[in-house]
Amino acid sequence: MVINENAERKVLPIASGKGGVGKTLIAANMALDLAVNGKSVVLIDLDLGGSNLHTALGMKNTNLGIGNFLSSQTVKFKDIVIPTPYQNLRFIPGDVLVSGVSNIQFSQKKKLMQSILELEADYVVIDLGSGGSCHVVDFFLISNSGLVVLTPQTTSIVNAYGLLKNTVSRFLQRAFASHPSISSYIKKLLKEKKPNASPPVSEMLTKMSKLDSQAGERAKRYMEALKPKFVVNMAHSPDDLQIVEQLRDLVRRNLDMDVECLGLIFKDDAVDRSVEEGLPLTTSQGDSVAGREISRIAQKILQSEEFPVMPLELEYYADTYELALLEAQSDYEDLQAKEKEEDDEVNAADLLAIISDQKRQISELRGTVRMLTLRGR
Ligand SMILES: Nc1ncnc2c1ncn2[C@@H]1O[C@H](COP(=O)(O)OP(=O)(O)OP(=O)(O)O)[C@@H](O)[C@H]1O
Ligand SMILES: [Mg+2]
Repeated sequence: MVINENAERKVLPIASGKGGVGKTLIAANMALDLAVNGKSVVLIDLDLGGSNLHTALGMKNTNLGIGNFLSSQTVKFKDIVIPTPYQNLRFIPGDVLVSGVSNIQFSQKKKLMQSILELEADYVVIDLGSGGSCHVVDFFLISNSGLVVLTPQTTSIVNAYGLLKNTVSRFLQRAFASHPSISSYIKKLLKEKKPNASPPVSEMLTKMSKLDSQAGERAKRYMEALKPKFVVNMAHSPDDLQIVEQLRDLVRRNLDMDVECLGLIFKDDAVDRSVEEGLPLTTSQGDSVAGREISRIAQKILQSEEFPVMPLELEYYADTYELALLEAQSDYEDLQAKEKEEDDEVNAADLLAIISDQKRQISELRGTVRMLTLRGR
């Protein structure tokens, strides 16, 4: 079912609990990085109701997209897959031209999912909308190893937890939809509106095993295969990883899932400059810290022969967070050195302006003194 066992076609949905955390930036730049590395990539804007991925690629929104595909019988899926200015990278626009499809029906959703899974590409990168609605979660579950983007802000952390919680519930609900006793047990839990009413997933699995031992074993296997990954964005310091590790521990305890960390991306002024230019980071900013960090995440994916199993070199580290911390510490030094360089440039420019202003004042003063001297004669 949901699990993407086809290691050759790697679908990478990018979700977040909170909006505005950098999904679109990461989707566009990561897809471009995979393409630059010679892989054939399709990038899809599935943020229905908020499609803006074309701008991150520096493209106009004049092409047919998901909105047209979902609302018209005559638009075929292949019609909406368009080339981009970048080699190896194709793009499927969202619903900018035809909006109002954010509430799609299940049959349409299935048709869309099937079409996505049939795409011929090495990688399919999907930019999703924010939050844990069942539409977002269903598309997030198109793969067992989607990326969850979060920032070190408390609301982003809390909402990322909410997204993962909804993902697990929806995952189990869909996996056992046709199993009478287990599906009614899950439905009963989902109906419970009291805060913290749902038991830890490990308890749910035990209960499911009691209801049907074989189904319980299957549920455990499914849960083991579910391996979403965190990407921490807009970090200010390597220490920001600590709060994400706390979230990892909470998810491990309550949701029975081990979420690894693909890497940390610092808040970087180069991102604003690339947005102003309307171009991807690497195209417009050359070697920026954030650009390099996104490329590194793409490299980790490329080097994992069977993503989400992480590259071999990870065996040298205690876990993915330890590697992310080491990377972040070295990036932090680079970022600070770059900021200092910019400050020094500003200081040098300021100094020149002060000197030329002083020269002007001195020459004005000389003129005044000369005039006064002449008058006094
Ligand atoms: N590492 C970063 N450094 C600086 N600015 C960033 C960084 N990441 C993202 N931004 C900026 O933050 C804003 C939100 O980013 P983006 O649109 O990619 O988020 P999103 O998660 O896709 O948002 P939405 O939920 O609205 O779709 C943009 O202006 C983007 O340029
Ligand atoms: Mg977005």
